[in-house]
Amino acid sequence: MRIYLDNAATTAIDKEVLKVMTDVMENHYGNPSSIHAHGREVRTLVEKARKTVSTLLNTAPANIFFTSGGTEADNTAIRSAINDHQIKHAITSKIEHHAVGHTLEMMEKQGLIQLSYVNVDNKGNVDYAHLEDLLANNDKSFVSLMQANNELGTLTDLDRVGDLCEQYHAIFHSDTVQTVGHYPHDLGKLKAHFIVCAAHKLHGPKGVGFLYVNPSIKINPMILGGAQERNMRGGTENVYGIAGLAKALELSYQDMETHQQHIQGLKAYMMEGLKNAIPAISFNGETEPSKSLYTVLNVCFPKMEMADMLLFNLDISGISASGGSACSSGSNIGSHVLTAIGADPEKPSIRFSFSKYNTKAEVDIVVEKLKDIFVSDHKI
Ligand SMILES: Cc1ncc(COP(=O)(O)O)c(C=O)c1O
Repeated sequence: MRIYLDNAATTAIDKEVLKVMTDVMENHYGNPSSIHAHGREVRTLVEKARKTVSTLLNTAPANIFFTSGGTEADNTAIRSAINDHQIKHAITSKIEHHAVGHTLEMMEKQGLIQLSYVNVDNKGNVDYAHLEDLLANNDKSFVSLMQANNELGTLTDLDRVGDLCEQYHAIFHSDTVQTVGHYPHDLGKLKAHFIVCAAHKLHGPKGVGFLYVNPSIKINPMILGGAQERNMRGGTENVYGIAGLAKALELSYQDMETHQQHIQGLKAYMMEGLKNAIPAISFNGETEPSKSLYTVLNVCFPKMEMADMLLFNLDISGISASGGSACSSGSNIGSHVLTAIGADPEKPSIRFSFSKYNTKAEVDIVVEKLKDIFVSDHKI
């Protein structure tokens, strides 16, 4: 049996979700835009899913727009908000996901905005005083800061950013792909204009997500076509995906605390095990539970001969995780996140990310394997 510790990349689908999706595929094939009974029945499914999602997040169904996932939702929020509100200045960080970073960089290259980067420290924490400076010294800004960094796990305080954005009349978008379904979100209180979700990060299907748009802001459609999603996103809806997303979110909310405790426990157990097995090990990003996403553990290994082979070695031993190291000078490959926090390019890093399906026995096997690799590398 292989061990899967790459849940920040994607998660296994929950059987309950699969059941809901299979039923929709088999039995509800109408086009939700059709006005006949087949269509109306499927329209009801889509609207029921929207109601489930909006109720869990404490907002109105009209504020939830289904998309093809996190990337589309991020692109839509960023491009539409900036274009439709004549924004000339945007603030982000160097550790955002490429769905955000590349979109803003492109808009800057096109001369549409001036882009400022808020400072982050060597653990990926946002410098809130610098953020305030940037907001105070620029007219109406667009701010995009993620809630949890997908490589490091470091969390940003969305309430604090939201308060600052409100004070300086900025538009606030947060990439919440790694946190929706893992922490509760109260959109009745959160001062964000946009947040996003990708169902495949919470045991839902791939290729579906949503964009939340705060009713205080209006944007024009990004994808033109039919009148789907109340004219905001043309194209026949991914009906089984949407039904699966709603079920996945419902399940994550149902057992959120239990899963959080279980996963947080695994992470702490692995940290302890690794520190004992390889004392020279350290961790990238925050690890303190209140500051760190409980599903992610980014491990920085000591320098080793076989650094490039580390992930491959794990893979052939039946362990799936994802890797990255800071870019060494002149090199384009590597993690832009680890580079931005000043990680040592000579030390290999691996991101282990957990889900409700992982066990302590799996962690034991991984720690043992890593210890073996290091002993044979003669570096400890
Ligand atoms: C933080 C973050 N934002 C955006 C995305 C993109 O989401 P999707 O794969 O649904 O397009 C991911 C997925 O890796 C992510 O981790």
